[in-house]
Amino acid sequence: MFGNSFGRLFRVTTSGESYAGGFRKNKNLPRELYGGLLTIVDGVPPGIKLTSEFIQEELDKRRPGQSRLDTPRKEKDRVYIISGVMEDDYTTGAPVGMLIPNVDIADEEIENHRRYKDLIRPGQAAYTYYKKYGQYNDWAGAGRASGRETAARVAGGAVAKAVLDRLGIDVISYVSEVHGIKCSPVTYETAKQNYRKNEINCPDLEKAQEMIKELLRIKEEGDSCGGIVEIIAHGVPTGLGEPVFDKLSAVIAHGLMSIGAIKGLEFGAGFALAGLKGSESNDTPYYDENSGRVRFKTNKAGGILGGISNGEEIRIRAAVKPTPTIPKIQETVDVNKLCNTKVSFKSRNDPSILPRIYPVCEAMVRIAILDAWYMAKGYRSVSDIDHKWDTL
Ligand SMILES: Cc1cc2nc3c(=O)[nH]c(=O)nc-3n(C[C@H](O)[C@H](O)[C@H](O)COP(=O)(O)O)c2cc1C
Repeated sequence: MFGNSFGRLFRVTTSGESYAGGFRKNKNLPRELYGGLLTIVDGVPPGIKLTSEFIQEELDKRRPGQSRLDTPRKEKDRVYIISGVMEDDYTTGAPVGMLIPNVDIADEEIENHRRYKDLIRPGQAAYTYYKKYGQYNDWAGAGRASGRETAARVAGGAVAKAVLDRLGIDVISYVSEVHGIKCSPVTYETAKQNYRKNEINCPDLEKAQEMIKELLRIKEEGDSCGGIVEIIAHGVPTGLGEPVFDKLSAVIAHGLMSIGAIKGLEFGAGFALAGLKGSESNDTPYYDENSGRVRFKTNKAGGILGGISNGEEIRIRAAVKPTPTIPKIQETVDVNKLCNTKVSFKSRNDPSILPRIYPVCEAMVRIAILDAWYMAKGYRSVSDIDHKWDTL
């Protein structure tokens, strides 16, 4: 399996599966070492205060079993920092290693997956996993393709957050649409003020109640639904990103599209730009006397022009598909008996991935932006241009 690392200079590597540890319960080991998820973060500067409580705060946003809207699966998602941090919780500059043990895997859950293992789960990664890894494929919850893997990224993203906090760059994400119910446009300030004020984390507090009602109705039907998550990166300086293959939008898209269930992305006005005239879609620049900088009257570009950040907020919308594993009866194939059949998954599942995916989006955007910031710093140190361009 390739591609388990993301980022060039600030680089996050993950390993681990949904049910790692469920199969090798070695009684001679502490339960925490049966199996789980690992994260290694390369490129962490020395002198960053980093505690497991700080990382835990991010992980707790993604942890299942917290509300009526997500899976009843109870995972502690407890993180242990195992390297890269020394006295008084300051990073040393060495890679930061983190462990999130899987400690709650009951034997009957494994047996439940074993029962379904020959049935293709519609919409889930298990079929392609089976084709690619053959008889060795991890059939318990689609292994690395499982939503559980994203806990390891969130831990990596929390390390990026610790560095970005020092740079004054803030990344925030929220749910803006559930099964067609849309929230009103949101400023960064409102998103901050109403962050996680309800189970769905929608900053439009009225619409949030409608969304929750709809999710519970769909759950009652034994079905699931999708929606849209928005991400705002605030305080991003100009100059991050490269003009060709490593456009900032391309790097961020790589990070976000690597999250299971994300099926579409828009930067700024996104697809709506396709229906506008040039005079309507262009953001008008102006000289802002207060800051002494060039600003833009609108932000249809979503903070990125020509692949390079323009100093405005980076705004992204991500389309999240409905949770594939549902109790409702669906047609499928039994790959062992080679016959068409029907299936209903009674096991643990989220009626919607939305309440748990936004912290993963925050993590991937943080990693991408910090990595781009390092690249820009590196470029700056070898370039010879007059600093006056920088201050504009
Ligand atoms: C945080 C998170 C939680 C998820 N939980 C589930 C789940 O409970 N059941 C499920 O079938 N898929 C879940 N998924 C989605 C699958 O991982 C994903 O849809 C599947 O692997 C197929 O990949 P694709 O949708 O990107 O093609 C989750 C994804 C994320 C990011």
